[in-house]
Amino acid sequence: STVMAEEAKKLAAYAAVDNHIQNNQVVGVGSGSTIVYAVDRLAERVRQEKLNIVCIPTSFQARQLILQHGLSLSDLDRHPDLDVAIDGADEVDDSLALIKGGGGCLTQEKIVAGCAKHFIVIADYRKDSKALGQQWKKGVPVEVVPMAYVPVSRAITRRFGGEAVLRMAVSKAGPVVTDNSNFILDWKFEHAQNWKEVNTAIKMIPGVVETGLFVGMAERVYFGMEDGSV
Ligand code: A5P
Repeated sequence: STVMAEEAKKLAAYAAVDNHIQNNQVVGVGSGSTIVYAVDRLAERVRQEKLNIVCIPTSFQARQLILQHGLSLSDLDRHPDLDVAIDGADEVDDSLALIKGGGGCLTQEKIVAGCAKHFIVIADYRKDSKALGQQWKKGVPVEVVPMAYVPVSRAITRRFGGEAVLRMAVSKAGPVVTDNSNFILDWKFEHAQNWKEVNTAIKMIPGVVETGLFVGMAERVYFGMEDGSV
């Protein structure tokens, strides 16, 4: 049920913040619904323990969260070396490969995670999967330069099968526009693949900005479970 999943997100987020955040750190703040609980807990700890923490956002949403919680906001120009980045995921497989970008923020999320010594993922039990595609049926998000969405879509499906569809906005006529003013293709793949190779191959297609495949990046994943454990 939804209530259980929300509680599970909170449990995972609190455990990650309590285990990985220390004084004088530069912290990457992810995007989505689970990270909201992590920022709640981070703000609480900063207040209670008088911690000196600098936050680097991965999206417009993350930037707003940081500001609304009165946390200290910075950027990669001033703080390119992060101690830890915390973020959600749409699906996690056995080798901790992730699909991300359900919220369209994959590019900045991958940049920030790549700058962090430790990349920690927080999720509810619904995201836990043996192989990618078992849980998250919406496919792999791929951010593309707008004028290239048709050729990129064709290149992906010619090589890897499935279909790659332009993500459309819900309450506006037209495509979703990312924080970087690009479009998102959702590639619905048909079978499991070598995700490291697929990620590299898709990134090489002209017009691709980034893929939502995060392979070999996550160091640890906290799952909030249905029974209340983490
Ligand atoms: C944002 O683009 C995504 O990568 C999110 O990090 C991911 O979708 C997790 O979101 P939830 O915490 O809402 O599941």
